[in-house]
Parts: sequence; C-alpha cells; structure tokens
Amino acid sequence: MPAAVYWHSQAHMPTVHGAEVVIDRGEGAYIWDADGRRLFDATASLWYCNVGHGRAEIANAVAEQIRRLETYHTFGPFLNAAARDLAIRLSDLSPMDEPRVFLTSGGSDSVDTAAKLARRYWSAIGSDGKDWLLTRDGSYHGLHGFGTSLTGIEMNREGLGPVVAQTARVSMQEPGALEDRILELGPDKVAAFFCEPVVGTGGVFPPADGYLEAVQEICRAHDVLFIVDEVITGFGRTGYPFACIRFDLDPDLMVLAKGLTSGYLPLGAVLVSQRVAAPFWEEGTAHSFRHGLTYSGHAAACAAAEVNLDILEAEHLIDAVANLEPLFRDELSALAGLPVVSEVRCIGLLAGVQVDRPELAQEIALRAPDYGFVTRALPGGTLQFSPPFVVTADEIRWLAEAVRDVISALS
Ligand SMILES: Cc1ncc(COP(=O)(O)O)c(C=O)c1O
Repeated sequence: MPAAVYWHSQAHMPTVHGAEVVIDRGEGAYIWDADGRRLFDATASLWYCNVGHGRAEIANAVAEQIRRLETYHTFGPFLNAAARDLAIRLSDLSPMDEPRVFLTSGGSDSVDTAAKLARRYWSAIGSDGKDWLLTRDGSYHGLHGFGTSLTGIEMNREGLGPVVAQTARVSMQEPGALEDRILELGPDKVAAFFCEPVVGTGGVFPPADGYLEAVQEICRAHDVLFIVDEVITGFGRTGYPFACIRFDLDPDLMVLAKGLTSGYLPLGAVLVSQRVAAPFWEEGTAHSFRHGLTYSGHAAACAAAEVNLDILEAEHLIDAVANLEPLFRDELSALAGLPVVSEVRCIGLLAGVQVDRPELAQEIALRAPDYGFVTRALPGGTLQFSPPFVVTADEIRWLAEAVRDVISALS
C-alpha cells in the first residue's frame, strides 16, 4: 500500500491519517466503504446528494455531453448550449423575477461571485465606498477569500493574516442587531447582508419566527442588498424548491450549488435580480463585471444538473421531503430525552442533534459506521442529519434508533 498523501479538507491530519473512511460506491441512500460495509448516508455526503447515489441516467447524460462537447468556455461572447439552457431553466424555476444567471463551479465560487458583484454594483451606480458585507454569527459561506472572511465560524480565519476587509457578523437570530450594525456603520457604507436561511454548518439552526422576513425588510429600508445563500437549502431540502419560497423572500441575489447537481459534478450558480444586473446589461452601459471562471457553465456539469432537476420533478422528491418532515422531526426530536442531548433542531430533511460536549459528538460520528450509518460532528458539537430525499419512513425510524444506540453506548 503506498503511503497516504491525500490532505483531507478541514482535518487534523495526524488524527485522520491511518483512519481514513474510504467510500467506494453508492446506491440510493446507501454507500459502501472499501471493506464492503454498507452504510446509510445520513448526511447525503456533504448535504448535496439529494436524488441519491448511483443514478445511471445522470451518468449517461454526462457521458453523452462529453462525447459531443466536454465544455466550452463562456468568456466574452462564447457560450455552450448546455449552459444556455440550464440558465433559462434556473431563471424560470426561481421565485425571483427573471433573474440573470451566473454559473460557477461550486458554493464558494458562488459566494465570492456574489460578494464581488454586490460591491461592484454599488460602485457602478456611483455609490463607491458602500462595501461592508455583513453575515450572521455561526453562518458558513465556504472557504474562498470572501467566504472565509464572511463566515461566522471564527476558527476558519485563524492564522491567515488579514482577510477581506469591511466584513462583519451580527447576532444570528435578532433582526435588531442587523439594523443596529447598519446604522452604526452608516447605510451608505453597507453593500449587502448575506443570509443562510437555515444556518447549516454552524449547527443547523432554522430561523427564529419572523427573522427572515424582518431582515429582508431592514435591508430594503436601508438600501442594503439582501443575498440569500441557498447552497444547502436550494432544490428542496426544506420541502420547498427554495427556502425563499418557504419563507416568502425576494432576494437581490441567490447563491446556489450542491443540490443543483446533487453532487454528480461540481456546479454553482448566482441568480441576480434585474435591478442588480441592470448597470451591466443596459444598452450603452460602460460597465462590465470583470469576473468569471474557466469552468463557469461547464457543459458536462450543466447536463448533470438538467437530469438531476428532471429526477426531482419526475419522482416528486421535493413533495417527499415535505411529507417526511413531521416524521423526521418527531423521530429525531425524541433523542432529546437522552441525558447528553440538549436540543434537536429540525426543518425539512435537515436536523442538528446537539450533544452537550463537542468531543463526544466527534466520538459518536467516528463510531457511527459501526452502527450502520455515517454522520458528521459540526463545530460546537452538533450531529448533522440530512439524508437523501429518497429515504423512506422506515429508514428514518431505523436511523433514529441507530443514533440512539450509538449515543447511549458512548455516554
Ligand atoms: C451555506 C453554504 N454556502 C457556501 C458553501 C460552500 O460551498 P462549496 O463547499 O461547494 O464551495 C457551503 C458548503 O457547505 C454552504 O453550506
């Protein structure tokens, strides 16, 4: 066996070195490790495999696209047909009014695109200096330059030196804290508020009643762009096509990735309202948004997205999430009766089981495969549950029992 050289994401290497969990194949809501052990994928990998693993129809569509044209770049006037068609479909699907669509290679790319566009928009309309970017405490917006700076998880900035300036966090659930911060900085200095409708990686925190509607109002009142990061919630995770539909929101920009392809290929998107697009799209404008990626609108990834969206529709998987939500909530909430579980937070097919010690949560996640499933310990000691949408009621009941067993055995 050659020495392992793979550097794991966000890992303490001496801990994971020699203890790698190597996943070899997947089908539906299950994955198999390299030893042939079948495991229930209780997190849909990293909250993305919504249609389940092993979809041959996506593989076939991608192969067909690559045989025809692997991709073609979209700089200047160039475009490929797959990107053109997917952009139209996303614009139609979105609750926004015919947004313009910028395609990227994933969530962090989308966040950085949205952050740059927010600042660039204000500059283009003559409001230079309106460049503060605000986010919620505990939020996660990826790990590129802007995302690392925006994120509400402090440890992600440790040891990096100066990160992007003019970024700040506000209290996660109190709309008043956002308004206070905007007033303190001056509304003419604040470009945008980035908002995960459900804080995900920070511990699965659904919004407090009325929170999202209130922050949207505050942004409108002070002319601050309202950017909703639907990287986790987009494409059905809350039982609605977008959390913006569930909570009746009308954002200026929407940030998407993960469920767009269910992870079959990397792809992200930023949906841009006509207002924000206007300075760059109007006849006679002098402005361009000088941003783009080699793989913006990658044709094979767009082909994967098209079939993924077809599957969501044909199998009514978003309705399935809505129908399973009460059972999922009831089954996992019952774990709050365990002495070490202080709280269980649920929405759609998303849940965070709060364990009272982060080290114990880590240990539970490490031992979960011995009980037939995989989960993940989020910072702060939350166990993540976000199964693929093809999960059945019986599997949810089984999962809750298996989680109870591993927690009981270790506490
Ligand atoms: C809300 C949110 N935004 C952005 C990202 C970054 O996405 P990616 O890891 O695809 O770059 C994530 C990833 O988990 C996320 O949860």
